[in-house]
Amino acid sequence: MRLNRPTQLSPPFQEVLWAIAYEAFPAIVREGHNTTNIARLSQSVAALSRSLTRDRAQLPSDYLKRTQERLAYYLYFLPSNFLKIQHLIVDMAASWSEFPPKLEVLDLGCGPGTMGLGVIDFFAHQAEKPDQMHLKIVFVDHVKENVSLAKRTAHVYWQRLQADHLIPQDWKLTVEGHHLAVGDKRLAQIGSSFDWVIAANVLNELFLFQEEDFPSQARLWQRLGDRLLAPDGYFCFIEPALRETSQNLLRLRDYLISANWYVFAPCLSPSSPCPALQTGKGDWCHEERAWSAPPWIEAVDAQVGLIKDAIKFSYSILSKSPRNLSSYLSSPHPYRMVSDLMKSKGQSKAFLCDGCARSLYERQDKHANQGNHAFAIAHRGDVLDISGESKHRVAEDTSVQICF
Ligand SMILES: C[S@@+](CC[C@H](N)C(=O)[O-])C[C@H]1O[C@@H](n2cnc3c(N)ncnc32)[C@H](O)[C@@H]1O
Repeated sequence: MRLNRPTQLSPPFQEVLWAIAYEAFPAIVREGHNTTNIARLSQSVAALSRSLTRDRAQLPSDYLKRTQERLAYYLYFLPSNFLKIQHLIVDMAASWSEFPPKLEVLDLGCGPGTMGLGVIDFFAHQAEKPDQMHLKIVFVDHVKENVSLAKRTAHVYWQRLQADHLIPQDWKLTVEGHHLAVGDKRLAQIGSSFDWVIAANVLNELFLFQEEDFPSQARLWQRLGDRLLAPDGYFCFIEPALRETSQNLLRLRDYLISANWYVFAPCLSPSSPCPALQTGKGDWCHEERAWSAPPWIEAVDAQVGLIKDAIKFSYSILSKSPRNLSSYLSSPHPYRMVSDLMKSKGQSKAFLCDGCARSLYERQDKHANQGNHAFAIAHRGDVLDISGESKHRVAEDTSVQICF
């Protein structure tokens, strides 16, 4: 199945975001006042960005209740986060022979609906679509204003996609919203057969992952998976691409594997402990994908001094059924590139991981040829098929292909 990997926000989505911003934040955002809107948005983004970094310790967990912060999140943080889930969907879709006719998705800690909207957008922008599909998106957050904003945006975006004939008329969307906290027992009543449960940028907000608290926090996620996921469903975690948050995600991944879950992606082995955590050197793993930022994000960046020039994140897709991305690839020896490609005088180097071990591979320029050219053009996150290498050296007789 050929799938489109997204690199930008479509014009209809950009228009819907601003239309809802005018509607939901009338005291701050005004139609036809672009310069003022960008100046006000920049102020809000600067304040939220400070709160999320320097003043993190003082940030209340319901900070998105505050109108300015919610607006900043909606127009500045949502757009890049929204594309992240679409990269995970491409991974999960490796196991499909066709689009699923029905998909139930839980967006847990949904904020303004970022991940659920990303799921809708992914299907709308595929070239080959089935005639029928039923998407059920359930938004959950402990800030009720987030849940309302998520539901409203999903409805308006769906109507717009149908009006623009970007989704077939027979496709159906069901949207639900629940104002609940993650640990709330009532979560068990919202469904028990979700195909995807997505918790994006939530782990680091819920828990500080103090050593002594880790086991109880990890058990909570295990229980959530047991209660909410369909037997072959996927639990998708996305976290910021920072050392501490990524390592906490990897620790949770290892815990869930020890509790008989399996990792589907990005790792290429279903049940091996993460090799980055084994080195004892504070290693971690993250993704970096290209995107074209919409114009207002570039304008805000210029005013605030931030840079959103790439999409950076860490992720883990876990399942209770024993499946791994590697078994859907045509490669007998897949390795994921887990660093940038480092070019220096006379050679190229990169860290590659086969799911069990992570090692530095190198190719001398004098050994460059058509058969191993892929090594020198690959990017972080690409999966390479490598055969004929010895001692982590890509030589003249080594074959390298980008297979995913
Ligand atoms: C950084 S935002 C992420 C929003 C969205 N998932 C995204 O990736 O763009 C974290 C969200 O988690 C929500 N949240 C934090 N603690 C929560 C809890 N205990 N229960 C439910 N939601 C929570 C916050 O209200 C906020 O909307």
